[in-house]
Amino acid sequence: MSGINYSDKIPNNVNLSEDRTLQRALESWQPNFLGWWRDMGPDDSQNFDVYLRTAVSVDPQGWAQFGHVKMPDYRWGIFMNPAVADRAIYFGDHLGQAAWQDVPGEHRANLRRIIVTQGDTEPASVEQQRHLGMTCPSQYDLRNLYQVNVEEGRHLWAMVYLLHKHFGRDGREEAQALLERHSGDANHPRILAAFNEATPDWLSFFMFTYFTDRDGKFQLCALAESAFDPLARTTKFMLTEEAHHMFVGEAGIARVIARTAQVMNELKTEDAAKLRAAGVIDLPTLQRYLNFHFSVTIDLFGADESSNAAIFYSSGLKGRYEEGKRQDDHVLKGQTYKVIQAQGDQLIEREVPMLNALNEVLRDDYIADSVAGVERWNKVLAKAGIAFRLKVPHKAFHRNIGALAGIKVSPTGELVSEVEWNAHVDQWLPSASDRAYVASLMGRVTEPGKFANWIAPPVMGINRQPVDFEYVRFA
Ligand SMILES: [Fe+2]
Ligand SMILES: [Fe+2]
Repeated sequence: MSGINYSDKIPNNVNLSEDRTLQRALESWQPNFLGWWRDMGPDDSQNFDVYLRTAVSVDPQGWAQFGHVKMPDYRWGIFMNPAVADRAIYFGDHLGQAAWQDVPGEHRANLRRIIVTQGDTEPASVEQQRHLGMTCPSQYDLRNLYQVNVEEGRHLWAMVYLLHKHFGRDGREEAQALLERHSGDANHPRILAAFNEATPDWLSFFMFTYFTDRDGKFQLCALAESAFDPLARTTKFMLTEEAHHMFVGEAGIARVIARTAQVMNELKTEDAAKLRAAGVIDLPTLQRYLNFHFSVTIDLFGADESSNAAIFYSSGLKGRYEEGKRQDDHVLKGQTYKVIQAQGDQLIEREVPMLNALNEVLRDDYIADSVAGVERWNKVLAKAGIAFRLKVPHKAFHRNIGALAGIKVSPTGELVSEVEWNAHVDQWLPSASDRAYVASLMGRVTEPGKFANWIAPPVMGINRQPVDFEYVRFA
């Protein structure tokens, strides 16, 4: 790997062309990244020309340049939001002190762990989604999938930059390991459980980008508050891209709902069997997919009580969502927060020190944000004159982390016996037959402007292009 023209090949605003140490680290990592993309990235897509957005700078003209590119030639860049002069730490024990431009020795291990955990999710989602291109419902959707994939690749670069720049040899080893763990790999799995789940079909993909990319948003928002300024600035820029991923999910599900509602009205039926015979996704199946993705995603926030969460906050590594907008002392000592646990045959609330409950605080902020989009989906149903409403399940439903792990709770929040759970689980979570039915709908639609039967076209195209634009030119 020689003769990289750094600003051209790797767009950046981190002064890469002057930084020999960073160049050397990236020169050995980049070919491994490209090898990973070839082996674990989108299936059979190497020669397609895809209408992609590339960030070439952080200013408003530069962050979203559109054009057809072959994905292995995508210019994965390294960007940070501009520095804020004299930025001070505004939460935790170092409140009021200057933000750190380098990693303080005493926080090195925790910061590395935070960056590696975030970094691991980025390539994981690309791996989870790698087969979806083979069953795209349209060219427009295929392009959106690939956009999400290349940007998750760029998010990996963002975290690798921090590891290479600030963590020396350990950082280089961690950067390499990010390419060696794989989603769902029995021997070398990704770090977090939700990133080892399969994303087998496009309904799962839209639910994933709505719910799980939104977990990304909340984690990035918490890290954007960090006292470690390079992490704060890097994650702030990542958030500009994350917004599109959540749009893909929200709009995707809204289009599925719109198409189902249309067929329900045409056939004047709510009967799932009749709707399936007509080739659309019945609303109870949508609800079960929602239940699954919501519950798996809220586990990502971690245990409801966590001494690590307290340490990360008090030491200034990770703030709360919108920390700067909150009207409190930003230290939180002596304050409490309610968490849920099972006692006897019911769920009870318990007050715990807020510092230990910061995972739960972030989870609750996430839930409030998720619910808002579900209400927008319900508006699509209301507008079509359909009474059915989607709903996020109770926070204790189908949990695998913290005090609620393994407890059997219905989507409406009642503790149930093992027997009741088993009797109802196929109404609460996608059953094997639901998944088989959704899989049966997945065919490949690639003619410009054509859409699979189970999903409505979008209202408008990408970057003001028409819906029937040639978003992907196949080899
Ligand atoms: Fe990401
Ligand atoms: Fe994302």
